[in-house]
Amino acid sequence: GLRKKEVNVLCLGLDNSGKTTIINQLKPSSHLNHLGPLSPEWKHVSQTPAQEIVPTIGFNIEKFKSSSLSFTVFDMSGQSRYRNLWEHYYKESHAIIFVIDSGDKLRMVVAKEELDTLLNHEDIRSKKMPVLFFANKMDLRDAVSSVKVSQMLSLENIKDKPWHICASNAIKGEGLQEGLDWLQGSCS
Ligand code: GTP
Ligand code: MG
Repeated sequence: GLRKKEVNVLCLGLDNSGKTTIINQLKPSSHLNHLGPLSPEWKHVSQTPAQEIVPTIGFNIEKFKSSSLSFTVFDMSGQSRYRNLWEHYYKESHAIIFVIDSGDKLRMVVAKEELDTLLNHEDIRSKKMPVLFFANKMDLRDAVSSVKVSQMLSLENIKDKPWHICASNAIKGEGLQEGLDWLQGSCS
């Protein structure tokens, strides 16, 4: 058959924002899938079993297939001591998922700093790669809205890349499908 287009996706954001929880939700066997797996179009091909989510050390690689695309997701650690790993993967990446903890207002400025550093990096600046934002943890009582998150991160200043923000609850899997559908459309 036709070869699927290979897309490398970098999953970035501060520690504890929910990156691994989001990626894990794509695994059909995930015990976190209270709402059932995402649409069958999203077929997980990694051999790694779904397991208890712990802070990521370094990074993990997961592979997913949709009908037309073959995604390799680099789930990076958001801990400050590992953030210097991120830039080594910029050159070979075709899309970015940037996850924000909508309930962590105190560190929103740190998330903005990391985002600005990312977008100004020489390996990213000139690329038209799509950037998908998840305003995650929308279930928290003091979570700010996705509109507010995009204001706090000044997303309106991103002119040279297609971007999209979704509110999400990674534990329940809410909002993830919308984001992935947008990403798939932007990468096709
Ligand atoms: P690092 O690997 O350290 O960079 O963190 P991470 O971004 O991968 O975060 P992780 O997925 O490990 O989630 C951190 C914590 O947030 C876990 O306890 C998750 O259960 C929790 N969490 C993730 N998503 C949500 C959400 O939408 N709502 C709530 N309430 N908690 C969430
Ligand atoms: Mg993680």
